[in-house]
Amino acid sequence: MTKVGIIGGGNMGAAILAGIRQKYAVMVCEQDRKRAGFVKRRFAVKVADLAAVVRQSGIVILAVKPQNFEEVLAGIRPFVTRRHLIVSIAAGITCRYIEKRLGLGIRVARAMPNLPAQVGEAVTGICRGRFATSTDAETARRIFNCIGKTVVVEERLMDAVTAVSGSGPGYIFYFAECLEKAARSLGLKPELARELILQTLKGSARLLERSGEGAEVLRARVTSKGGTTQAALAVFEKNKTGKIVQRALAAARKRAKELSK
Ligand SMILES: NC(=O)c1ccc[n+]([C@@H]2O[C@H](COP(=O)([O-])OP(=O)(O)OC[C@H]3O[C@@H](n4cnc5c(N)ncnc54)[C@H](OP(=O)(O)O)[C@@H]3O)[C@@H](O)[C@H]2O)c1
Repeated sequence: MTKVGIIGGGNMGAAILAGIRQKYAVMVCEQDRKRAGFVKRRFAVKVADLAAVVRQSGIVILAVKPQNFEEVLAGIRPFVTRRHLIVSIAAGITCRYIEKRLGLGIRVARAMPNLPAQVGEAVTGICRGRFATSTDAETARRIFNCIGKTVVVEERLMDAVTAVSGSGPGYIFYFAECLEKAARSLGLKPELARELILQTLKGSARLLERSGEGAEVLRARVTSKGGTTQAALAVFEKNKTGKIVQRALAAARKRAKELSK
């Protein structure tokens, strides 16, 4: 069984752990003692210090916040060798930044999962650094396939992936929130509004996935001339919703670029 070490057993680290622990022998390093105890009990995995986790793993997933990166990279450097594959999930930390700190020749990949990882429905963008091979990218892919779907992209597209799917759940939740408020303003009780909207989101996503049709085709299909959907969509169009979404994603990508190092 391939040995995987996870540094940081927080929200994302634990979600990855939950998805991969059946297929991989996993060890975790978590600095917060309470959290470390929780992870150990909840997932029945070995929790150890940085040195032990890196020494005993072939693949090391870095799942700490970007502000803890410098310290973690300095901490693992003495134990990292060319047999390791280092996979970072930190937003904005480039492969080059990690390679510079771990030493020339170290195989590094980056992964950008999203929050639905917590229910095994993430989509993860993966790219690799200078020294990682296409086999390494495949290895990373197999790991993240355990928490949903994966795509491999060039590193220059990671900010766009972050803007689309990394932050994407936030947009969907925001839209759901707007729908819930609007439904309440039409006189529906909050629980009823929530149920209607949740199932509408789920059903529409499933239809989009299974029908093999694009969003535009399905949208046209539910929009009969002079009907209710058309009345609503006319309001979205008049207020240039498409342009607003474009601007929002451009702002997210710009922010990802600003934060990257
Ligand atoms: N959440 C998302 O939707 C999402 C999506 C894509 C990517 N990411 C990336 O995932 C990473 C983790 O995010 P998160 O939300 O899971 O953060 P989190 O819940 O704060 O988890 C990070 C954990 O790592 C621990 N830690 C920090 N320094 C450590 C060290 N030196 N050794 C061992 N453990 C250490 C932290 O402990 P302390 O609390 O004591 O510091 C914390 O428990 C971030 O870099 C983020 O950019 C997150």
